[in-house]
Amino acid sequence: MERTLVLIKPDGVKRHLIGNIIERFENKGLKIVSLKLMKVSDDKARQHYSVHSMKPFFEGLVSYLTSGPIVALILEGDNAIISCRNLAGATDGSAAAAGTIRGDFSLNIEENIVHASDSPESFNHEYKIFFNENEIMDY
Ligand code: CMP
Repeated sequence: MERTLVLIKPDGVKRHLIGNIIERFENKGLKIVSLKLMKVSDDKARQHYSVHSMKPFFEGLVSYLTSGPIVALILEGDNAIISCRNLAGATDGSAAAAGTIRGDFSLNIEENIVHASDSPESFNHEYKIFFNENEIMDY
């Protein structure tokens, strides 16, 4: 059993896609063990994307993630990390396969609707930015 962090980014929330996106993860069989609608602070956005801090697009990423509310989820299931990455699709929406979240809803790499942890190490770094341990449900 594995856990992963998924963020529905500000464009996904603004475009009223929360239900559609969550339904895809639930239909796959992933279990929601934590969920919140929240505004991300500048500090949290920088922590979340710290691995990209030297990239030219870093400041754009931070201002995008802080531009409106997001939905943060922790999902649990067998191979949850790769399963959620497959449902999200390729990073660049214009290249993502139809049927994936980004393939269906995004045309670019900046505003690509969702984030999903890419490894157990990334999950361990990321989930603590958005959740306290006592907010994760065991059921
Ligand atoms: P995400 O899965 O949240 O993880 C890092 C994000 O950086 C990624 O989604 C993209 O939105 C963004 N990103 C990756 N590469 C580029 C790029 N070349 N230009 C702009 N944004 C990028």
